[in-house]
Amino acid sequence: MNIQKNISLKPYNTFGIDAIASDFFSATSIDELREVLSKNKDVFILSGGSNILLINNINKLTLLVALKGVSVIKETKKHVYVKANAGENWHEFVLWCIENNFGGLENLSLIPGNVGTSPMQNIGAYGVEIKDTFHKLEAIGIATGKLHSFSNSDCDFGYRNSVFKNELKGKYIITSVVFKLTKEKHKLNYSYGAIQSELEKRAIDKPTIKDISDVVIDIRNSKLPNPKEIGNSGSFFKNPVISKEAFQKLQEKHPNIPFYEVKVSKDSSSMSSRAKSRGKTTNSFKVPAGWLIEQCGFKGKRFGDAGVHKNQALVLVNYGNATGKEIYNLAQKIQQTVKNTFDISLDIEVNVI
Ligand code: EPU
Repeated sequence: MNIQKNISLKPYNTFGIDAIASDFFSATSIDELREVLSKNKDVFILSGGSNILLINNINKLTLLVALKGVSVIKETKKHVYVKANAGENWHEFVLWCIENNFGGLENLSLIPGNVGTSPMQNIGAYGVEIKDTFHKLEAIGIATGKLHSFSNSDCDFGYRNSVFKNELKGKYIITSVVFKLTKEKHKLNYSYGAIQSELEKRAIDKPTIKDISDVVIDIRNSKLPNPKEIGNSGSFFKNPVISKEAFQKLQEKHPNIPFYEVKVSKDSSSMSSRAKSRGKTTNSFKVPAGWLIEQCGFKGKRFGDAGVHKNQALVLVNYGNATGKEIYNLAQKIQQTVKNTFDISLDIEVNVI
């Protein structure tokens, strides 16, 4: 086993933070993962590095999950079950599905990161989340080295949330994910305003999955910084969900505030487990954190090499040599200002390590 020493993690995290891993191993098979885990239980698991902020060096074994491969494992007349190994790049996998006319993931085009971490935070964009097409995943128990299968309900998906961010945090390494995709009569989702208006602009009235993907790619490119050019981790904060009363007060002061009405149900990370067990639903309002941050004057601001993106205030950026701590300090300053201004707490979506 070739364990490397003192490796810079800069190429392995989309924020481009130059943290050092004291020990580093890239695992390309389940057997290699098992072998490493049999000798080291305390490991730092690294995947696409697109949802982490490294504020410290890593003084334990960094284990890069680099299992590759995509295959069709089952087909019916209407559906196809596609298995992708954890180390596959998410966007390349989505493009492969589109080339093969497998529908369901097109709205999730151009999301950075790898397949293996997509279920952890139930990645979502433009009205679609992976829970909508997720069939099952396999994951290796860090303590046992055994492979376990998790169904959709086992994963307990919520908004940017799953069991792997809660009860099972740090206990499993996801090795592969199976998606159930459509082969015909694709259920296209273009309810999201920006997709609709882009399709209209292009005079497309019967879009294909490729059309949706192309439009999503263009929308993302126009709003979100490309991590290859400017370090970032996508949305740094979650959009907060607030009560109807709190929202009404806010709307009186800011009649133009954008919002999404949400039924707080089993799906929502913001619901208490007591309410969850009673199966209760109430109306709440999700307000875009990007809007709140912009109102506080942070949009486009730069503090040294740490900054807030000029087109989307929800995205913090590294202009080159920011340290993880500098980005984190900026995030805390934003949280404090939003709290003081709106009395709303912003939760960080990215894993701070
Ligand atoms: N807005 C502002 N100022 C900003 C940013 C946004 O006023 O700086 C307003 C917009 O004008 C719009 C509303 O906020 O009215 C929503 O903005 P947008 O459509 O960009 O979506 P979002 O709620 O800010 C979420 C996801 C994104 C995803 C988009 C599209 C979260 C935390 N973020 O952002 O996900 O791409 O919706 O579905 O839910 C990610 O997770 O990394 C990510 C980029």
